[in-house]
Amino acid sequence: MKYTLMVLALLAPLTAAASLGATEAEPEPNAFVQSVRELHRGPPVQQTRNIANVETRWFTLKLDNFNAANNATWKDRVLINEDHFTAGSPIFIYLGGEWEIEPSSITSGLWVDIAKEHNGSLIYTEHRFFGKSFPITPLSTKNLKYQSVQQALADVVNIIKILKQEDKYKDSKVLVSGCSYSASMATWIRKLYPDVILGSWASSAPLLAKVDFAAYMEVVGQSFKQLGGQYCYDLINNATSYYQKLFESGRGAKAKKELNLCASFNAKSEHDRWQIFSTIANVFAGLAQYQKPGNYDLPRYCSVLRSFSDDDAEALSLFVQWQLGYPKCVSVSYQGTINYYKWAKNNYEDDTGLPWIYQTCSEFGWYQSSGSPNQPFGSSFPATLYTDTCHDAFSPNYTLNHIEANTAATNAEFRGIDIDVNNVYWTQGGLDPWSKVGAGEAQGATIIPQASHCSDLGSISLNDSPVLMASKLKLKQLVKDWLAQ
Ligand SMILES: *[C@@H]1O[C@H](CO)[C@@H](O)[C@H](O)[C@H]1NC(C)=O
Ligand SMILES: *[C@@H]1O[C@H](CO)[C@@H](O)[C@H](O)[C@H]1NC(C)=O
Ligand SMILES: *[C@@H]1O[C@H](CO)[C@@H](O)[C@H](O)[C@H]1NC(C)=O
Ligand SMILES: *[C@@H]1O[C@H](CO)[C@@H](O)[C@H](O)[C@H]1NC(C)=O
Repeated sequence: MKYTLMVLALLAPLTAAASLGATEAEPEPNAFVQSVRELHRGPPVQQTRNIANVETRWFTLKLDNFNAANNATWKDRVLINEDHFTAGSPIFIYLGGEWEIEPSSITSGLWVDIAKEHNGSLIYTEHRFFGKSFPITPLSTKNLKYQSVQQALADVVNIIKILKQEDKYKDSKVLVSGCSYSASMATWIRKLYPDVILGSWASSAPLLAKVDFAAYMEVVGQSFKQLGGQYCYDLINNATSYYQKLFESGRGAKAKKELNLCASFNAKSEHDRWQIFSTIANVFAGLAQYQKPGNYDLPRYCSVLRSFSDDDAEALSLFVQWQLGYPKCVSVSYQGTINYYKWAKNNYEDDTGLPWIYQTCSEFGWYQSSGSPNQPFGSSFPATLYTDTCHDAFSPNYTLNHIEANTAATNAEFRGIDIDVNNVYWTQGGLDPWSKVGAGEAQGATIIPQASHCSDLGSISLNDSPVLMASKLKLKQLVKDWLAQ
């Protein structure tokens, strides 16, 4: 069936990383880990027929940008497209976030079109600890102390310094853009280094760090209600409350069977129950976060959901298994997740998601919990699921208080959505769950109705809604204005 093929292509399978000398076997694929990773995959890859020369270069950077006594270095991967570049023209950087970089983001799309207009060079920087850019290994908690947004921003500034030693770049002005976390970076780098970065475009930037990000699932629910239909919302709501009631009334074995959970799932473990409900919600969130209204994604997914069964609970169970790629059984044990993350410390070659989880513990939180009553995924996955994961996967230091203090420190540094910064253009999707921690109209952001996460990266198209089109034209003009400053 064609849907199966489509989803298998969407979900990066949890393939085994080569075990680097260690003898430990990869833990069984874990549906919770898979669902979290899916929410942090890179921006949608642009469809392109453009032939472009993208060069890969490795920049030698400092392991610790803030300690002069530590002279350890590493090599960061950077992609460069100079097809449109003439000497002295601007540098257009696209910032990598918590994903592996790939060429299409600097060969087509709106940012590329704008760069062309100014004879600019396009540069895609890989964020430390993602893709192929590891400053230090293994990914022990001790080594991950070098993972932070401040370090990553200083890396980008150092890449610019190195580029500017070349004659053709010495007079180039520098603009940056980003999507999702890399849009937060685009905002923050302009604030911290206004003399280096002339202006920024930030598409779907979360700006306010927050441990319990309960509003996220509200917007996921709204997306299904508005685009999929009330029946779809009600179906999800009814099915999750059915399973929740089974667990709460001591009939966990029945729920385990009906959800096809693996033997390792312990119906009596609170943490295991948190994981299954969180996984279900994440599966739906992944669809909502990258839905394209023009493609009728959510109405289609809702009709598939309904078509699995007339029984709401059975339909939801089958839909989730389909989205997970039809595993033999759905593996969602808490200990399985912790084992996977511990294994990932030595087996980092594949994108395991571990360094991002670390950053949520040490800087951002953003735990997508069931804390709001205004969403259809029940009330069984508190932020504690994630803070306990910090504690058990990284260090006993990660108590809730400690994680709260970490997010407070991030907000003290960047000032959340009230950040004081200029020459930054924020764009948001009206149905993007992340917009709840991003700039709003009051901060000057453009809100694109019904759009989701990073949905405005493509070239100007006749299919663009009027607001989307206007926003793209506004960005073009802003770039012109900034470059004229
Ligand atoms: C690093 O610094 C130490 C002392 O600060 C020095 O002895 C050593 O030569 C330096 N190494 C390199 C590669 O520069
Ligand atoms: C871009 O380069 C072309 C060819 O060198 C030149 O004619 C044009 O004026 C340049 N445009 C800008 C905006 O610099
Ligand atoms: C809710 O789901 C249960 C279990 O699937 C089903 O028996 C019931 O009819 C559903 N209720 C509604 C209103 O659809
Ligand atoms: C945990 O906290 C102790 C005491 O503050 C500190 O010495 C230690 O380095 C911390 N460990 C980690 C992994 O952060």
